[in-house]
Amino acid sequence: MRENASWDPTAYGRFSSERSRPFADLVAQVRTESPRLVVDLGCGHGPATLTLAQLWPDARVVGVDASEAMLESARELDRDGRVEWVQSDLREWDPASLGDAPDVLVTNSTLQWVPGHLDLLDAWVKALSQGGWLALQVPGNFDAPSHRLMRETAEHHERAGELTAALDLPAVGEPATYLRYLARLGCDVDAWETTYLHVLDPDGEDDNPVLSWVMATGLRPVLDILTDEAERAAFIEPYAAHLADAYPRTPAGVLFPFRRVFAVARKAPAPTPAPATTTDPA
Ligand SMILES: C[S@@+](CC[C@H](N)C(=O)[O-])C[C@H]1O[C@@H](n2cnc3c(N)ncnc32)[C@H](O)[C@@H]1O
Repeated sequence: MRENASWDPTAYGRFSSERSRPFADLVAQVRTESPRLVVDLGCGHGPATLTLAQLWPDARVVGVDASEAMLESARELDRDGRVEWVQSDLREWDPASLGDAPDVLVTNSTLQWVPGHLDLLDAWVKALSQGGWLALQVPGNFDAPSHRLMRETAEHHERAGELTAALDLPAVGEPATYLRYLARLGCDVDAWETTYLHVLDPDGEDDNPVLSWVMATGLRPVLDILTDEAERAAFIEPYAAHLADAYPRTPAGVLFPFRRVFAVARKAPAPTPAPATTTDPA
């Protein structure tokens, strides 16, 4: 089984407004007023999950994540103890552990790290309450220069074998992949894609803001392997130079297009009982 990459809540917390926008756009399509049980799968360091608690103040809210570092940060942020934080790998997480049927399952920017994630959707939809919602978002940017250049740099490094294997992430689907899959599970599905044009570092404080961005996410598997300073520099120096060419600074800042894939599925509501037939006493 693939080892999970390490996570750094502080590094991930940079660019928080850019990272939080897809989550808000995803949850905006979950059209339920008062869910009882809401679960954030791959909740990370907490801010996004806490917005769910604000949106649905009466709901029980659970955040599940594999990373102890991310959960520790989430618990610190959640001073009122509003959310139940659970450490689990999503491949092992059992919805029955909730003790109740969830009304909303959200998973944002996480399934790209989870091999076989399509297969997990069956159990998650099955676990939902009737009329419940599953909302997912995954990056659709694996052919973008940021990721292509990462793979090419890895191929030229002395530890190429390990690095290319670590960057061989589980494939994410297209909007139609998730639409077809979730529709087959009996859901009404809305699937779409958005390419955000992030404007990074408008104040010119960071030489390479795209590098700073990926160091908190897509580059984590490389950083986990290259703990030796010289080996790491042999990767970062050429990669940073390629990124600076691919994402030049403009007067507005560094423009970083980022494609994301969304799907929001609603499980069929319970059938409404037929009205009682009145028998004619005559
Ligand atoms: C990019 S962060 C997204 C965090 C949060 N959903 C957000 O939108 O800010 C990805 C999260 O997925 C978690 N993750 C990755 N693989 C996982 C797995 N197999 N099981 C549970 N969590 C996982 C990581 O620990 C990390 O916190």
